[in-house]
Amino acid sequence: MSRSTNATEDSILSTNVASRGKWSSKFGFVLAAAGSAIGLGNIWRFPYTVGENGGGAFVLVYLLFVALIGVPVLLAELSMGRSTERSAVGAFKKLMPDSWWPAVGGLGVLCGFGILSFYSVIAGLTLSYLYMAAQGKFTGGFTGAESEQVFGALTSNPLATVGLTAAFLVLTALVVRGGISGGIERAAKILMPIFLVILLILVGRAVTLPGADEGLRFLFAFDFSKLGAAGIMSALGQALFSMSLGMGAMITYGSYLRKEDNLPSAGLTVAFFDTGLALVAGLMIFPAVFAAGLEPEAGPKLIFIVMATIFDTLPFGLFFAVAFYGLLAIAALTSTISLLEVIVAYFVDERSWTREKAVWMMTAACFALAVPSALSLNPSSSLADMVDTNDFLDLANIVFGNYFLSIGAVFICLFVGWKWGVANAVAEMRQGGAKLFAAPLWGVLVRYVCPVAVIIVLIYAAATNSYL
Ligand code: PFF
Repeated sequence: MSRSTNATEDSILSTNVASRGKWSSKFGFVLAAAGSAIGLGNIWRFPYTVGENGGGAFVLVYLLFVALIGVPVLLAELSMGRSTERSAVGAFKKLMPDSWWPAVGGLGVLCGFGILSFYSVIAGLTLSYLYMAAQGKFTGGFTGAESEQVFGALTSNPLATVGLTAAFLVLTALVVRGGISGGIERAAKILMPIFLVILLILVGRAVTLPGADEGLRFLFAFDFSKLGAAGIMSALGQALFSMSLGMGAMITYGSYLRKEDNLPSAGLTVAFFDTGLALVAGLMIFPAVFAAGLEPEAGPKLIFIVMATIFDTLPFGLFFAVAFYGLLAIAALTSTISLLEVIVAYFVDERSWTREKAVWMMTAACFALAVPSALSLNPSSSLADMVDTNDFLDLANIVFGNYFLSIGAVFICLFVGWKWGVANAVAEMRQGGAKLFAAPLWGVLVRYVCPVAVIIVLIYAAATNSYL
Protein backbone atom coordinates (compact mmCIF):
# COMPACT_ATOMS: atom_id res chain seq x y z
CA MET A 1 0.00 0.00 0.00
CA SER A 2 2.65 2.45 1.07
CA ARG A 3 4.76 1.31 -1.89
CA SER A 4 2.05 2.12 -4.38
CA THR A 5 1.33 5.45 -2.68
CA ASN A 6 4.99 6.27 -2.95
CA ALA A 7 5.04 5.26 -6.56
CA THR A 8 2.05 7.47 -7.29
CA GLU A 9 3.60 10.35 -5.39
CA ASP A 10 6.83 9.91 -7.29
CA SER A 11 5.09 9.91 -10.60
CA ILE A 12 3.06 13.00 -9.67
CA LEU A 13 6.25 14.69 -8.59
CA SER A 14 8.14 13.79 -11.72
CA THR A 15 5.29 14.95 -13.95
CA ASN A 16 5.29 18.20 -12.03
CA VAL A 17 9.01 18.63 -12.43
CA ALA A 18 8.88 17.68 -16.08
CA SER A 19 6.10 20.17 -16.74
CA ARG A 20 7.84 22.99 -14.87
CA GLY A 21 9.68 24.09 -17.99
CA LYS A 22 13.26 25.29 -18.57
CA TRP A 23 15.00 28.25 -20.17
CA SER A 24 15.91 27.24 -23.71
CA SER A 25 19.50 28.49 -23.31
CA LYS A 26 21.87 30.31 -20.98
CA PHE A 27 21.26 33.42 -23.06
CA GLY A 28 17.51 33.06 -22.51
CA PHE A 29 18.07 32.82 -18.76
CA VAL A 30 20.38 35.84 -18.73
CA LEU A 31 17.82 37.95 -20.57
CA ALA A 32 14.95 36.89 -18.32
CA ALA A 33 16.95 37.27 -15.10
CA ALA A 34 18.39 40.59 -16.23
CA GLY A 35 14.82 41.59 -17.08
CA SER A 36 13.80 40.74 -13.51
CA ALA A 37 16.72 42.62 -12.01
CA ILE A 38 16.55 45.66 -14.27
CA GLY A 39 13.31 47.42 -13.50
CA LEU A 40 11.72 50.34 -11.76
CA GLY A 41 14.43 49.74 -9.16
CA ASN A 42 17.02 50.98 -11.62
CA ILE A 43 15.13 53.82 -13.24
CA TRP A 44 12.65 54.91 -10.57
CA ARG A 45 14.06 53.86 -7.18
CA PHE A 46 17.82 54.18 -7.76
CA PRO A 47 17.84 57.80 -9.02
CA TYR A 48 15.57 59.12 -6.29
CA THR A 49 17.44 57.25 -3.57
CA VAL A 50 20.70 58.68 -4.90
CA GLY A 51 19.01 62.10 -4.96
CA GLU A 52 17.75 61.81 -1.37
CA ASN A 53 21.12 60.64 -0.09
CA GLY A 54 23.33 63.24 -1.64
CA GLY A 55 24.76 61.57 -4.74
CA GLY A 56 28.19 60.04 -5.33
CA ALA A 57 29.04 58.78 -1.84
CA PHE A 58 25.80 56.79 -1.83
CA VAL A 59 26.69 55.34 -5.23
CA LEU A 60 30.07 54.17 -3.94
CA VAL A 61 28.54 52.43 -0.91
CA TYR A 62 25.91 50.90 -3.18
CA LEU A 63 28.58 49.45 -5.46
CA LEU A 64 30.38 48.01 -2.45
CA PHE A 65 27.18 46.29 -1.28
CA VAL A 66 26.55 44.92 -4.77
CA ALA A 67 30.01 43.34 -4.86
CA LEU A 68 30.24 42.08 -1.29
CA ILE A 69 26.62 41.11 -0.62
CA GLY A 70 24.60 41.18 -3.84
CA VAL A 71 26.80 38.94 -5.95
CA PRO A 72 27.36 36.26 -3.27
CA VAL A 73 23.64 36.11 -2.42
CA LEU A 74 22.75 35.94 -6.11
CA LEU A 75 25.02 32.92 -6.60
CA ALA A 76 23.65 31.31 -3.43
CA GLU A 77 20.06 31.68 -4.66
CA LEU A 78 20.78 30.47 -8.18
CA SER A 79 22.61 27.37 -6.98
CA MET A 80 19.83 26.49 -4.54
CA GLY A 81 17.31 26.80 -7.35
CA ARG A 82 19.20 24.82 -9.95
CA SER A 83 20.22 22.10 -7.56
CA THR A 84 16.67 21.41 -6.40
CA GLU A 85 14.68 22.38 -9.49
CA ARG A 86 12.18 23.89 -7.08
CA SER A 87 11.00 27.40 -6.36
CA ALA A 88 11.45 29.35 -3.10
CA VAL A 89 9.66 27.06 -0.62
CA GLY A 90 10.35 23.74 -2.34
CA ALA A 91 14.07 24.39 -2.61
CA PHE A 92 14.43 24.67 1.18
CA LYS A 93 12.10 21.70 1.64
CA LYS A 94 14.09 19.48 -0.66
CA LEU A 95 17.46 20.39 0.86
CA MET A 96 16.30 20.32 4.50
CA PRO A 97 13.05 18.37 4.84
CA ASP A 98 11.22 18.35 8.16
CA SER A 99 12.73 21.62 9.30
CA TRP A 100 11.51 25.18 9.66
CA TRP A 101 13.70 26.39 6.79
CA PRO A 102 10.94 26.23 4.15
CA ALA A 103 9.31 29.06 6.11
CA VAL A 104 12.10 31.28 4.78
CA GLY A 105 10.87 30.47 1.29
CA GLY A 106 7.34 31.21 2.49
CA LEU A 107 8.50 34.61 3.67
CA GLY A 108 9.87 35.12 0.17
CA VAL A 109 6.54 34.29 -1.47
CA LEU A 110 4.82 36.70 0.91
CA CYS A 111 7.36 39.34 0.06
CA GLY A 112 6.65 38.72 -3.63
CA PHE A 113 3.02 39.64 -2.96
CA GLY A 114 4.09 42.70 -0.99
CA ILE A 115 6.49 44.05 -3.60
CA LEU A 116 4.21 43.27 -6.54
CA SER A 117 1.37 45.08 -4.78
CA PHE A 118 3.08 48.48 -4.75
CA TYR A 119 5.29 47.93 -7.77
CA SER A 120 2.31 47.37 -10.04
CA VAL A 121 0.84 50.70 -8.91
CA ILE A 122 3.92 52.65 -10.04
CA ALA A 123 4.08 50.47 -13.15
CA GLY A 124 0.46 51.41 -13.87
CA LEU A 125 1.34 55.10 -13.67
CA THR A 126 3.99 54.59 -16.36
CA LEU A 127 1.25 53.39 -18.72
CA SER A 128 -0.71 56.56 -18.18
CA TYR A 129 2.40 58.72 -18.63
CA LEU A 130 3.22 56.81 -21.81
CA TYR A 131 -0.23 57.59 -23.14
CA MET A 132 -0.02 61.27 -22.17
CA ALA A 133 3.46 61.53 -23.72
CA ALA A 134 2.17 60.10 -27.00
CA GLN A 135 -0.67 62.62 -26.95
CA GLY A 136 1.91 65.42 -26.78
CA LYS A 137 0.91 66.50 -23.30
CA PHE A 138 4.51 67.09 -22.15
CA THR A 139 5.50 69.20 -25.14
CA GLY A 140 4.27 72.52 -26.49
CA GLY A 141 4.81 74.72 -23.40
CA PHE A 142 4.53 72.29 -20.52
CA THR A 143 5.50 73.94 -17.23
CA GLY A 144 6.56 72.69 -13.78
CA ALA A 145 3.27 73.85 -12.27
CA GLU A 146 1.35 71.93 -14.92
CA SER A 147 3.43 68.86 -14.21
CA GLU A 148 2.51 68.96 -10.52
CA GLN A 149 -1.09 69.37 -11.53
CA VAL A 150 -1.08 66.47 -14.01
CA PHE A 151 0.47 64.18 -11.41
CA GLY A 152 -1.97 65.39 -8.78
CA ALA A 153 -4.99 64.87 -11.03
CA LEU A 154 -3.89 61.37 -11.98
CA THR A 155 -3.00 60.19 -8.49
CA SER A 156 -6.05 61.59 -6.80
CA ASN A 157 -8.33 59.78 -9.21
CA PRO A 158 -8.91 56.38 -7.59
CA LEU A 159 -10.53 54.94 -10.68
CA ALA A 160 -7.44 55.76 -12.69
CA THR A 161 -4.82 54.49 -10.23
CA VAL A 162 -6.72 51.32 -9.40
CA GLY A 163 -7.63 50.70 -13.05
CA LEU A 164 -4.06 51.21 -14.28
CA THR A 165 -2.77 48.85 -11.60
CA ALA A 166 -5.26 46.21 -12.73
CA ALA A 167 -4.24 46.72 -16.36
CA PHE A 168 -0.59 46.22 -15.54
CA LEU A 169 -1.28 43.11 -13.51
CA VAL A 170 -3.31 41.60 -16.35
CA LEU A 171 -0.47 42.35 -18.78
CA THR A 172 1.90 40.56 -16.41
CA ALA A 173 -0.45 37.60 -16.02
CA LEU A 174 -0.77 37.18 -19.79
CA VAL A 175 2.98 36.67 -20.05
CA VAL A 176 3.38 34.43 -17.00
CA ARG A 177 0.58 32.11 -18.11
CA GLY A 178 2.68 31.34 -21.21
CA GLY A 179 5.18 29.48 -19.02
CA ILE A 180 8.96 29.65 -18.86
CA SER A 181 10.38 29.48 -22.37
CA GLY A 182 7.12 30.23 -24.21
CA GLY A 183 6.02 33.15 -22.01
CA ILE A 184 8.68 34.71 -19.80
CA GLU A 185 11.75 34.01 -21.95
CA ARG A 186 9.97 34.98 -25.15
CA ALA A 187 8.83 38.29 -23.65
CA ALA A 188 12.35 39.02 -22.35
CA LYS A 189 13.85 38.31 -25.79
CA ILE A 190 11.55 40.87 -27.37
CA LEU A 191 11.48 43.50 -24.63
CA MET A 192 15.09 43.61 -23.42
CA PRO A 193 16.67 44.57 -26.79
CA ILE A 194 14.05 47.30 -27.25
CA PHE A 195 14.81 48.48 -23.71
CA LEU A 196 18.55 48.70 -24.39
CA VAL A 197 18.18 50.61 -27.63
CA ILE A 198 15.81 53.18 -26.08
CA LEU A 199 18.06 53.60 -23.05
CA LEU A 200 21.16 54.25 -25.13
CA ILE A 201 19.34 56.85 -27.24
CA LEU A 202 18.09 58.62 -24.11
CA VAL A 203 21.48 58.59 -22.39
CA GLY A 204 23.13 59.93 -25.55
CA ARG A 205 20.64 62.78 -25.49
CA ALA A 206 20.92 63.50 -21.77
CA VAL A 207 24.71 63.66 -21.48
CA THR A 208 25.03 66.01 -24.44
CA LEU A 209 22.62 68.57 -22.99
CA PRO A 210 24.15 71.92 -22.03
CA GLY A 211 24.71 71.88 -18.26
CA ALA A 212 24.71 68.08 -18.06
CA ASP A 213 28.12 68.02 -16.37
CA GLU A 214 26.56 69.14 -13.09
CA GLY A 215 24.45 65.99 -13.14
CA LEU A 216 27.49 63.84 -13.78
CA ARG A 217 29.32 65.51 -10.90
CA PHE A 218 26.33 64.87 -8.61
CA LEU A 219 26.40 61.17 -9.49
CA PHE A 220 30.14 60.67 -9.16
CA ALA A 221 31.41 63.23 -6.60
CA PHE A 222 32.07 61.43 -3.32
CA ASP A 223 30.91 63.88 -0.66
CA PHE A 224 30.61 61.65 2.40
CA SER A 225 29.25 64.42 4.61
CA LYS A 226 25.92 64.01 2.83
CA LEU A 227 25.69 60.28 3.51
CA GLY A 228 24.04 59.42 6.82
CA ALA A 229 23.09 56.11 8.39
CA ALA A 230 19.83 56.16 6.47
CA GLY A 231 21.80 56.37 3.27
CA ILE A 232 23.86 53.31 4.11
CA MET A 233 20.69 51.39 4.92
CA SER A 234 19.04 52.43 1.72
CA ALA A 235 22.13 51.43 -0.23
CA LEU A 236 21.84 47.90 1.11
CA GLY A 237 18.08 47.72 0.52
CA GLN A 238 18.59 49.08 -2.95
CA ALA A 239 21.34 46.58 -3.82
CA LEU A 240 19.10 43.65 -2.84
CA PHE A 241 15.96 45.11 -4.40
CA SER A 242 17.71 45.93 -7.63
CA MET A 243 19.16 42.45 -8.08
CA SER A 244 15.81 40.84 -7.10
CA LEU A 245 17.41 39.14 -4.09
CA GLY A 246 16.28 37.98 -0.67
CA MET A 247 12.86 36.63 -1.65
CA GLY A 248 13.60 33.62 -3.80
CA ALA A 249 13.08 35.18 -7.22
CA MET A 250 16.54 34.03 -8.21
CA ILE A 251 15.98 30.62 -6.59
CA THR A 252 12.92 30.32 -8.82
CA TYR A 253 14.65 31.58 -11.98
CA GLY A 254 17.69 29.40 -11.18
CA SER A 255 15.43 26.36 -10.94
CA TYR A 256 14.70 26.61 -14.67
CA LEU A 257 18.40 26.79 -15.57
CA ARG A 258 19.83 23.78 -17.41
CA LYS A 259 22.55 21.77 -15.68
CA GLU A 260 24.92 22.21 -18.63
CA ASP A 261 24.85 26.02 -18.37
CA ASN A 262 27.64 27.89 -16.62
CA LEU A 263 25.83 29.25 -13.56
CA PRO A 264 28.42 31.67 -12.12
CA SER A 265 29.08 33.27 -15.47
CA ALA A 266 25.32 33.66 -16.09
CA GLY A 267 24.87 35.15 -12.60
CA LEU A 268 27.77 37.56 -12.96
CA THR A 269 26.47 38.73 -16.32
CA VAL A 270 23.10 39.52 -14.73
CA ALA A 271 24.76 41.39 -11.84
CA PHE A 272 26.97 43.32 -14.24
CA PHE A 273 24.06 44.42 -16.43
CA ASP A 274 21.86 45.33 -13.50
CA THR A 275 24.48 47.51 -11.83
CA GLY A 276 25.68 48.97 -15.10
CA LEU A 277 22.14 49.91 -16.07
CA ALA A 278 21.41 51.55 -12.71
CA LEU A 279 24.41 53.81 -13.33
CA VAL A 280 23.38 54.37 -16.93
CA ALA A 281 19.88 55.32 -15.75
CA GLY A 282 21.56 57.84 -13.45
CA LEU A 283 23.48 59.11 -16.46
CA MET A 284 20.17 59.63 -18.19
CA ILE A 285 18.25 61.27 -15.37
CA PHE A 286 20.64 63.54 -13.44
CA PRO A 287 22.16 65.36 -16.43
CA ALA A 288 18.61 65.97 -17.70
CA VAL A 289 17.39 67.18 -14.30
CA PHE A 290 20.34 69.54 -13.75
CA ALA A 291 20.36 70.78 -17.32
CA ALA A 292 16.75 71.84 -16.82
CA GLY A 293 17.73 73.64 -13.60
CA LEU A 294 15.66 71.29 -11.41
CA GLU A 295 16.40 69.59 -8.10
CA PRO A 296 17.18 65.86 -7.82
CA GLU A 297 15.71 65.37 -4.34
CA ALA A 298 12.09 64.99 -5.37
CA GLY A 299 11.78 61.45 -3.96
CA PRO A 300 9.51 58.87 -5.56
CA LYS A 301 7.90 61.52 -7.76
CA LEU A 302 11.20 62.38 -9.48
CA ILE A 303 10.60 60.45 -12.67
CA PHE A 304 7.04 61.67 -13.01
CA ILE A 305 6.86 65.29 -11.91
CA VAL A 306 10.44 66.37 -12.58
CA MET A 307 11.24 64.32 -15.65
CA ALA A 308 7.96 65.17 -17.41
CA THR A 309 8.94 68.84 -17.56
CA ILE A 310 12.20 68.16 -19.36
CA PHE A 311 10.90 67.07 -22.74
CA ASP A 312 9.38 70.45 -23.55
CA THR A 313 12.85 71.97 -23.78
CA LEU A 314 14.17 69.31 -26.16
CA PRO A 315 13.97 69.14 -29.91
CA PHE A 316 11.94 66.00 -30.74
CA GLY A 317 10.67 66.17 -27.16
CA LEU A 318 7.60 64.11 -27.96
CA PHE A 319 9.76 61.27 -29.24
CA PHE A 320 11.98 61.37 -26.16
CA ALA A 321 9.01 61.52 -23.80
CA VAL A 322 7.40 58.47 -25.40
CA ALA A 323 10.75 56.68 -25.36
CA PHE A 324 11.31 57.47 -21.67
CA TYR A 325 7.94 56.32 -20.39
CA GLY A 326 7.97 53.36 -22.79
CA LEU A 327 11.33 52.41 -21.31
CA LEU A 328 9.90 52.55 -17.81
CA ALA A 329 6.89 50.43 -18.71
CA ILE A 330 9.07 47.76 -20.33
CA ALA A 331 11.49 47.71 -17.41
CA ALA A 332 8.59 47.35 -15.01
CA LEU A 333 6.93 44.54 -16.98
CA THR A 334 9.96 42.23 -17.10
CA SER A 335 10.21 42.65 -13.31
CA THR A 336 6.53 42.22 -12.43
CA ILE A 337 6.69 39.02 -14.47
CA SER A 338 9.36 37.64 -12.14
CA LEU A 339 7.50 38.77 -9.02
CA LEU A 340 4.35 36.98 -10.14
CA GLU A 341 6.39 33.93 -11.18
CA VAL A 342 7.78 33.51 -7.64
CA ILE A 343 4.24 33.25 -6.34
CA VAL A 344 2.87 31.15 -9.19
CA ALA A 345 5.81 28.71 -9.06
CA TYR A 346 5.05 28.06 -5.39
CA PHE A 347 1.47 27.06 -6.13
CA VAL A 348 2.50 24.98 -9.15
CA ASP A 349 5.37 23.17 -7.37
CA GLU A 350 4.00 22.78 -3.87
CA ARG A 351 0.24 22.79 -4.30
CA SER A 352 0.10 21.11 -7.71
CA TRP A 353 -2.11 23.85 -9.14
CA THR A 354 -2.16 24.29 -12.88
CA ARG A 355 -0.19 27.31 -14.07
CA GLU A 356 -3.36 28.85 -15.50
CA LYS A 357 -5.23 28.62 -12.20
CA ALA A 358 -2.25 29.86 -10.17
CA VAL A 359 -1.71 32.83 -12.47
CA TRP A 360 -5.26 34.17 -12.37
CA MET A 361 -5.95 33.45 -8.70
CA MET A 362 -2.72 35.06 -7.61
CA THR A 363 -3.11 38.03 -9.93
CA ALA A 364 -6.48 38.64 -8.30
CA ALA A 365 -4.97 38.32 -4.82
CA CYS A 366 -2.16 40.75 -5.70
CA PHE A 367 -4.69 43.17 -7.08
CA ALA A 368 -6.63 43.15 -3.81
CA LEU A 369 -3.43 43.90 -1.93
CA ALA A 370 -2.48 46.62 -4.41
CA VAL A 371 -5.68 48.61 -3.98
CA PRO A 372 -4.64 50.37 -0.72
CA SER A 373 -1.30 51.34 -2.29
CA ALA A 374 -3.08 52.72 -5.34
CA LEU A 375 -5.57 54.68 -3.20
CA SER A 376 -2.83 56.01 -0.94
CA LEU A 377 -1.43 58.11 -3.80
CA ASN A 378 -4.40 60.40 -3.32
CA PRO A 379 -3.19 63.06 -0.85
CA SER A 380 -6.62 63.40 0.73
CA SER A 381 -6.94 59.67 1.36
CA SER A 382 -6.55 58.36 4.89
CA LEU A 383 -3.87 56.04 3.51
CA ALA A 384 -1.66 59.01 2.61
CA ASP A 385 0.88 60.36 5.13
CA MET A 386 0.40 57.38 7.45
CA VAL A 387 3.80 57.46 9.14
CA ASP A 388 5.74 60.73 8.89
CA THR A 389 5.11 61.71 5.31
CA ASN A 390 4.99 58.12 4.09
CA ASP A 391 1.82 56.88 2.47
CA PHE A 392 0.74 53.24 2.35
CA LEU A 393 2.70 52.66 -0.85
CA ASP A 394 5.90 54.10 0.67
CA LEU A 395 5.45 51.88 3.70
CA ALA A 396 4.97 48.77 1.57
CA ASN A 397 8.12 49.78 -0.32
CA ILE A 398 10.06 50.15 2.94
CA VAL A 399 8.70 47.07 4.72
CA PHE A 400 8.88 44.61 1.83
CA GLY A 401 11.51 46.24 -0.37
CA ASN A 402 13.99 46.89 2.44
CA TYR A 403 13.22 44.89 5.60
CA PHE A 404 11.81 41.65 4.17
CA LEU A 405 14.50 41.43 1.52
CA SER A 406 17.29 42.06 4.02
CA ILE A 407 15.92 39.47 6.47
CA GLY A 408 15.44 37.00 3.61
CA ALA A 409 19.01 37.55 2.44
CA VAL A 410 20.38 36.84 5.94
CA PHE A 411 18.51 33.53 6.16
CA ILE A 412 19.49 32.49 2.64
CA CYS A 413 23.17 33.10 3.46
CA LEU A 414 22.93 31.25 6.76
CA PHE A 415 21.19 28.36 5.05
CA VAL A 416 23.61 28.02 2.16
CA GLY A 417 26.70 28.79 4.24
CA TRP A 418 25.96 26.63 7.28
CA LYS A 419 23.14 24.18 6.56
CA TRP A 420 23.21 23.08 2.95
CA GLY A 421 26.93 23.83 2.94
CA VAL A 422 29.38 25.82 0.85
CA ALA A 423 30.85 22.62 -0.64
CA ASN A 424 27.47 21.46 -1.96
CA ALA A 425 26.66 24.86 -3.39
CA VAL A 426 30.07 25.12 -5.04
CA ALA A 427 29.69 21.62 -6.51
CA GLU A 428 26.37 22.75 -7.99
CA MET A 429 27.94 25.88 -9.42
CA ARG A 430 30.77 23.87 -10.98
CA GLN A 431 28.30 21.77 -12.97
CA GLY A 432 28.22 23.30 -16.40
CA GLY A 433 31.97 23.80 -16.51
CA ALA A 434 32.67 26.78 -14.24
CA LYS A 435 36.16 26.70 -12.68
CA LEU A 436 35.19 29.05 -9.85
CA PHE A 437 38.64 30.00 -8.58
CA ALA A 438 37.06 32.41 -6.11
CA ALA A 439 35.07 29.65 -4.36
CA PRO A 440 36.89 30.03 -0.99
CA LEU A 441 36.29 33.78 -1.03
CA TRP A 442 32.63 33.21 -1.87
CA GLY A 443 32.38 30.79 1.06
CA VAL A 444 33.71 33.39 3.49
CA LEU A 445 31.38 36.03 2.12
CA VAL A 446 28.22 33.88 2.42
CA ARG A 447 29.09 32.39 5.80
CA TYR A 448 30.36 35.45 7.62
CA VAL A 449 30.52 38.76 5.78
CA CYS A 450 27.03 38.91 4.26
CA PRO A 451 24.94 37.79 7.26
CA VAL A 452 26.93 39.88 9.74
CA ALA A 453 26.90 42.99 7.57
CA VAL A 454 23.19 42.75 6.83
CA ILE A 455 22.29 42.09 10.48
CA ILE A 456 24.33 45.11 11.61
CA VAL A 457 22.65 47.33 9.06
CA LEU A 458 19.21 45.95 9.96
CA ILE A 459 19.60 46.46 13.71
CA TYR A 460 20.93 49.92 13.13
CA ALA A 461 18.04 50.79 10.84
CA ALA A 462 15.43 49.45 13.22
CA ALA A 463 17.01 51.23 16.19
CA THR A 464 17.22 54.59 14.48
CA ASN A 465 14.09 54.21 12.39
CA SER A 466 16.23 55.51 9.61
CA TYR A 467 14.23 54.13 6.72
CA LEU A 468 11.29 56.42 7.36
N1 PFF B 1 14.72 44.06 -9.31
C1 PFF B 1 13.52 44.76 -9.62
C2 PFF B 1 13.85 46.20 -9.88
O1 PFF B 1 15.00 46.62 -9.68
O2 PFF B 1 12.97 46.93 -10.27
C3 PFF B 1 12.50 44.64 -8.52
C4 PFF B 1 12.29 43.24 -8.06
C5 PFF B 1 11.87 42.27 -8.95
C6 PFF B 1 12.57 42.91 -6.74
C7 PFF B 1 11.74 40.97 -8.54
C8 PFF B 1 12.42 41.61 -6.30
C9 PFF B 1 12.01 40.65 -7.23
F1 PFF B 1 11.87 39.42 -6.84
